[in-house]
Amino acid sequence: MNLTSRLYFNFRVTAMLTVILILLSCNGKKRYESEKKLTSVTLKIDSILNKMTLIEKVGQLNMLRGKPTTPTNFKDAKYNLEEEIKKGRVGSFLNVHPMEDKIKYQKIAVEESPNGIPLLFGIDIIHGFRTNFPVPLGEAASWNLELIEKSAKIASTEGTAVGFMWNMAPMVDISFDARWERVMEGAGEDPYLGSRIAEARIKGFQGDLSSTETMLACAKHFAGYGQVMAGRDYNQTTISKRFLHDYILPPFQASIDVDVASLMSAFTDFDGVPGNMNSYLLKDILRERWDFEGIVISDFNSLEEIVNWGTVDSEEKAAFKAFEAGTEVDMMGLVYIENLEKLIQDGKIKESSLNTAVKRVLKMKMDMGLFDGPYRYFKIKDPEKIWLQPQFLEHSRNIARKSMVLLKNDSQLLPISTNKTKTIAVIGPVDEDKRNFMATWSAWGKEENVVGVVDGLKNALKEETIEILYEPGLNKDLSANPELLNRAIKAAKKADVVVCTLTEGWRNSGENTSLSDLNMPEPQVDLIRKIHEVNQSTICVLFNGRPMIFPWISENIPAILEAWMPGTKGGDALADILLGKYNPSGKLPITFPRNTGQIPISYLQKKTGRPYKTGKNWTRYLDAPNEPAYAFGYGLSYTTFEYSDIRLSTENISENDTLTASINIKNTGQLAGVETVQLYIGDAVATVTRPIKELKGFQQVSLEPGETKSIDFKITKEHLKYWNTEMKYEADPGTFIIHIGTNSDDFKKTIFKLQ
Ligand code: BGC
Repeated sequence: MNLTSRLYFNFRVTAMLTVILILLSCNGKKRYESEKKLTSVTLKIDSILNKMTLIEKVGQLNMLRGKPTTPTNFKDAKYNLEEEIKKGRVGSFLNVHPMEDKIKYQKIAVEESPNGIPLLFGIDIIHGFRTNFPVPLGEAASWNLELIEKSAKIASTEGTAVGFMWNMAPMVDISFDARWERVMEGAGEDPYLGSRIAEARIKGFQGDLSSTETMLACAKHFAGYGQVMAGRDYNQTTISKRFLHDYILPPFQASIDVDVASLMSAFTDFDGVPGNMNSYLLKDILRERWDFEGIVISDFNSLEEIVNWGTVDSEEKAAFKAFEAGTEVDMMGLVYIENLEKLIQDGKIKESSLNTAVKRVLKMKMDMGLFDGPYRYFKIKDPEKIWLQPQFLEHSRNIARKSMVLLKNDSQLLPISTNKTKTIAVIGPVDEDKRNFMATWSAWGKEENVVGVVDGLKNALKEETIEILYEPGLNKDLSANPELLNRAIKAAKKADVVVCTLTEGWRNSGENTSLSDLNMPEPQVDLIRKIHEVNQSTICVLFNGRPMIFPWISENIPAILEAWMPGTKGGDALADILLGKYNPSGKLPITFPRNTGQIPISYLQKKTGRPYKTGKNWTRYLDAPNEPAYAFGYGLSYTTFEYSDIRLSTENISENDTLTASINIKNTGQLAGVETVQLYIGDAVATVTRPIKELKGFQQVSLEPGETKSIDFKITKEHLKYWNTEMKYEADPGTFIIHIGTNSDDFKKTIFKLQ
């Protein structure tokens, strides 16, 4: 018996013993019921498995996609999907639509395949399904876990309405490198914030799986994809085991702690071994250390691509290595369906290992109620009624405005005063292409539902007599156009205030769009420069999925707002902020560098032997400061907050104690506002080099003008643990430095000791 089968066997025996014990004691009725259910699921799965042939078992590990819409080089072109389903050679699908196709395929699976096992239908819903929310990095800037969970829940409700049941999200990769465009899909650079957001998203997607409005989630990409060398997508990684443990693994572990149904292996290698044949990651960590009982699915076609990594010379060997390492479902590689049966017949892979993987797939299907109701996700007659419901749109607006980050606001140019303003010019190419609001991975979102900047302002100013001028200033493809520029300059001259919208362009944000230069493209900088020459009251609004570099703008433009790619109600949300109906509260979940050469960059800077600014030979650049343009956790408000009186309940704690660290925060401005108070802890002396400080908590607080509140953080030994020289997760006795403040670069400090 291999380890996984042994675990499974032990699990069954334990389950039965528990049932008997509970019966004997006549106590814990509820627990008894759930154990009984578990045992009956196990028995049902066993009885199905016993009837399956080898190839049908392999079929459960095969995920294909719906009919490709364009000519394709992928191997699925040679297969007849319906025939494959009939033979029981497909277990799940990605991207099948329309709904009739799902129903047709399910019918074939249930009525014509040998054991009538229903199919699972998967999709990527990354930031909303029909109602789009800000890109995940933008949502992360809200630091609002409740609202982030709500976005995922709405996305599930909308996606399940057309029969999708398995979502290839959330992406929980941590990255310090915005050249890698997929930072847009994640929660930024910090493992603590990333873990909390991963939990929120998974809870939102999965909720109670017995409901047909929730879907299986998939935390991806396990592990280290965000560390591609030089920020180039699909490249090798060079990270160490320690880096993996410190930064990459925590959000995955957090995902498992909230029972994520599946994990996707990474396109990348770790320590010289491709992600989907990496048994250190997939077995040692995932199964043995974390006891993960869900499914591991490969990334799209990546099993076939193992051959390209040069670690095997045939797809048969790729199948062998990937399966033995623990990749269970083959997404579109067709490597398992073509090779696993033979590998088992030849005795190279044990059938018992195959059984373990198949049981996990069957269990997912059972959890989704598909054996009792294979069509239960296809019951909604009119999904249009489910989509874009007023409360979903209201949420889209709310989370978008809470995601926007005010980077600069000199001389209080923002909010725009409706009393003093007669004309607002909206200049910039963003409204020309509404996809700039939806970005890539927008699922079934449609441009026609997007509220743009001009419409958002018009909606908000219905009652006012303010004139709104609009000029794109550039072509739709973001290239320069002298005639449009002249018109834009004329409009800027006429206006009291200009809202200049710039974008990296939605095509630049999403998979396989790495950049070697993150500077805002010149035609856009030129546009805002020329506009500013004729109107000093120019506000810059940025639409991007990743940090960009814009030194001229930072220096010269008085007000800058990071709007991300804000989703369906982006324009309304923006108007709320521009006109002061919502006081900005977003905080950067990722560092904005000054220039591309500073990358990789993170506030998680370790101590070094020659720290910055301590003497002649410190760690530095000759041509740029070390500091970023905007630090992690940074974000302004229309009001101001003052932090004071940092204090501790005790200066010494031991093993089981809890220390309370408190700080006072006062709203010293004229408007009510929300502040995210951030707690960072540093370890004075450790057995290995450690970051100067790490985020360990945060709280959002609303304050009226003049109001002061005291904020408490509870700290235990758990917060102080790290991977020591022996790779044990422990805390050393000694001094710790507490930092509490408004961002990773602006805080009050105090110290305490762990005995
Ligand atoms: C991406 C995954 C995604 C998959 C299916 C791949 O290219 O890396 O994140 O889930 O496609 O769409």
